[in-house]
Amino acid sequence: MPFDRSIKIAPSILSADFANLGAEIRAVETEGADWIHVDPMDGHFVPNLTIGPNVVAAIRPHVTTFMDVHLMIAPADPYIEAFAKAGSDMITVHAEAGPHLHRTLQSIRDHGAKAGVALNMTTPLSHIAHILDAVDLILVMTINPGFGGQKFTRSMVEKVAQARAMVGDRPIHIEVDGGIDPVTAPLVAGAGADVLVAGSAVFKGGSVERPEVYGENIRAIRAAAG
Ligand code: DX5
Ligand code: ZN
Repeated sequence: MPFDRSIKIAPSILSADFANLGAEIRAVETEGADWIHVDPMDGHFVPNLTIGPNVVAAIRPHVTTFMDVHLMIAPADPYIEAFAKAGSDMITVHAEAGPHLHRTLQSIRDHGAKAGVALNMTTPLSHIAHILDAVDLILVMTINPGFGGQKFTRSMVEKVAQARAMVGDRPIHIEVDGGIDPVTAPLVAGAGADVLVAGSAVFKGGSVERPEVYGENIRAIRAAAG
């Protein structure tokens, strides 16, 4: 089967109603989400605290698509097993989160998940150039991680294009996260990103009582991405 480079919209549940995560996930999936993006944060690697493996395990039965878990924690290694057992399909760690990235990526695959690596905006692609065989996804951050609703950083478009060139024919997804909306989606999709994370742009104006708004928001991003 050829590698799937079609555009995938991955709503970040960071912008969902945390008191109602199961229903929120079902709503965005019904309305067209391709992946579900989950954002554990530790209050140390990033200045915010969110969820841990227990919550990821609790939402797992509600995800019928693909659970994409973006760890903003350091160190990540002690928690890989727990997030894998919680049912993550993809576990993405930050390149900046520890000194032995290759070992961390191997550990993710050994636990049965796909292995992603996230690059903060100041971390160059050369950091991972020699370990691409260990990578299933490159997440190019387009904001400083920690919070939803921040402004997209335009200079990252060139980084996405460089990531796409570096990946070549390898079966590696290129994901972007931060400030993705119908205005910025065409920039990153045009540069070669295939997984577009969007939190505020998907959840704004909608609710589980008005899920059709989620559908309109997802379709607007997908249409803009082309
Ligand atoms: C922030 C998270 C993002 C966040 C994106 O560190 O990694 O996934 O939810 O939110 P928006 O799409 O609102 O920028
Ligand atoms: Zn994220």
